[in-house]
Amino acid sequence: MTKSELLSVSQTVVNRTSDGILVLDENNLITRCNRSAERLLDAAPNELNGKDFSWIFAKNDRRTPKNLISISNSNPIAFQDENGEVWLRSELGRNFPAEIETVPAIENGKEVSVVLFQDVTTKRASQRVIDRWDAYSKDVLRNTIEVLGQTVAQRDPYTAHHQLRVSELSAAIGTLMGLSSDDMIGLEFGGLIHDIGKIHIPGEILTRPGRFSREEFDLVKTHSVIGHGIVSIIDLPWPVADIAHQHHERLDGTGYPQGLKGSEIDRLARITAVADVMESMTSHRPYRPGLGTDRALSELMENKSTLYDPDPVDACVMLFDSDGFEWSVNSILGGGAKNTNDISAPQKVRSN
Ligand SMILES: [Fe+2]
Repeated sequence: MTKSELLSVSQTVVNRTSDGILVLDENNLITRCNRSAERLLDAAPNELNGKDFSWIFAKNDRRTPKNLISISNSNPIAFQDENGEVWLRSELGRNFPAEIETVPAIENGKEVSVVLFQDVTTKRASQRVIDRWDAYSKDVLRNTIEVLGQTVAQRDPYTAHHQLRVSELSAAIGTLMGLSSDDMIGLEFGGLIHDIGKIHIPGEILTRPGRFSREEFDLVKTHSVIGHGIVSIIDLPWPVADIAHQHHERLDGTGYPQGLKGSEIDRLARITAVADVMESMTSHRPYRPGLGTDRALSELMENKSTLYDPDPVDACVMLFDSDGFEWSVNSILGGGAKNTNDISAPQKVRSN
């Protein structure tokens, strides 16, 4: 391809791209531009030539720029609003948000600047719609999961409260651990529904005061497998079903139902396990009062790294010892709770 053919190709690309392109001289005056720049700025052919570059920035819009930013080392200043958006002004006075960049270049031995910009009105509007829809979807999903989690309330009010409180504590632990917002959603949802499998445990077992027999306890332990089956029906982008399945697994493989070890257990399930034990031990049971924060924290600390993931344990200790964590959802106290399925507390505490 000859040099003139290359130039022709470049000119075609420059004129067909939807980005506006301006070339500025060393005094920041527009020397030439492509057709998209004229179209975006509502300018007639060659009307932009000779204008000062600063002319294209919106200055009197209701989003009056608060800050000036340098968009390149030696090039003109651009105005941005409080959201960090750059707003441009067309020849007809139309203001629009833009993405803009400048590229320094040398032309005929002189420094020039090539400015590329695009109108992002549609892109921003689309993103706002997506963001709103995303927030709405998560709200609906959260409410749905909470309602589903609370379906156990009628036969087992303790578990209904327990799930709300585990979700709250898990979220607090996750926040302290610096989890991503995506993981935080999974953690919160997992807590809300982790014991949903108890809905298939006969009501007479769940509501009967007193201790479980070995057979009853074995039956109640099936709730994690049942819960996994229920939650798996919902196609969620978070490991909520794994949390239901694995929150009674322990790092050394002594948990249930699969006897998973260490990293075989989902990370969010390991966090939920810590919150589950903490909530269970500190909450009242009809056959015993709550065992107290200190005893629950001792259980977690003594078995840190053997039964429980050390990171959520450390976060949980900090929450209660330093941050004065308190649940916003009160536990069921007094005679309100009928069941005794204290299956999250460790064996040495549980006596059924
Ligand atoms: Fe459970």
